[in-house]
Amino acid sequence: MKIKKAVIPAAGLGTRMLPISKAVPKEMLPIVDRPAISYLVKEASDAGIEDILVITAGGKECIEDYFDYSAVYEKRLTEKGKTDDLRLLREVADMANITFIRQKEAMGLGHAILKARAFVGEDDFAVLYGDDIIVSETPVTKQLCCVYEKYGLGVAGVKPVPWEDVTRYCSLKVDEAEKGVYRVSDMVEKPKRREDAFSNLSILGRVILPAQIFDILENTAPGAGGEIQLTDAMAVLSREKGMMALDFEGRRYDMGSKLGFLTANVIEGVKSEEVGEDFKKFLKEFVKEL
Ligand code: UTP
Repeated sequence: MKIKKAVIPAAGLGTRMLPISKAVPKEMLPIVDRPAISYLVKEASDAGIEDILVITAGGKECIEDYFDYSAVYEKRLTEKGKTDDLRLLREVADMANITFIRQKEAMGLGHAILKARAFVGEDDFAVLYGDDIIVSETPVTKQLCCVYEKYGLGVAGVKPVPWEDVTRYCSLKVDEAEKGVYRVSDMVEKPKRREDAFSNLSILGRVILPAQIFDILENTAPGAGGEIQLTDAMAVLSREKGMMALDFEGRRYDMGSKLGFLTANVIEGVKSEEVGEDFKKFLKEFVKEL
């Protein structure tokens, strides 16, 4: 079975990015010249996914605008004969078949995913967290799809996190199945103490889930932070049916944090075809002043 649907939850308040997130969704913060969410849609599309549901919220209408055609720009660019720019705008809008739904209250990632039930139906589906950008040679969603196709179970994209930070992440109970691939039998969201953590492997931004997760989510009470946690539902799934985890290849940027946003723009800015060389020159001079 191939994964054909993806859900991008992008309805969170983004309090770590205040004050900008009050008016600009963190999922719309740019890396060079494209918003974070554009990288996610491209990643899903590059993994062969055709239908994408973005979960938004009031005040986040600019996400929909970004993936729409723009009559104003198209008219102006046509008049000026700027066919390359025209093509660029069309490419963005035509990358995938995207639909939108609102989460009316930010009650947690699990609550947001529940909004995708009608869109997903009985299919297994991918989730790309709206503020987690992962740049890799093979799209990380595709890496997860390969594990899914081999084992037929839900798959979590994981990375080891520093042990001193483990209480800020979720922690997975795992047994290695093959190099970098694990069987998951339990997990916990934000363990209270380091001793309560199963391991320092944590889910970072990508999962593939069976539709069964919706029944579990319906019965999931609010957990850490008073929110309905997707991790709590995945813990039940892991215990009842099992899940897999993949230590994926790729560099992750947490666009929901100020440091992650800055890091993304420095590293990807240096790689940019358009401005990379000039930016590198600037940085080399600038570090001398530090
Ligand atoms: P986060 O936990 O990083 O988002 O969720 P947050 O709650 O916005 O962050 P802070 O702590 O206030 O800064 C990961 C992804 O899930 C979405 C977010 O938009 C983000 O892309 N999310 C989170 C929802 O869609 N709904 C929610 O209720 C919570």
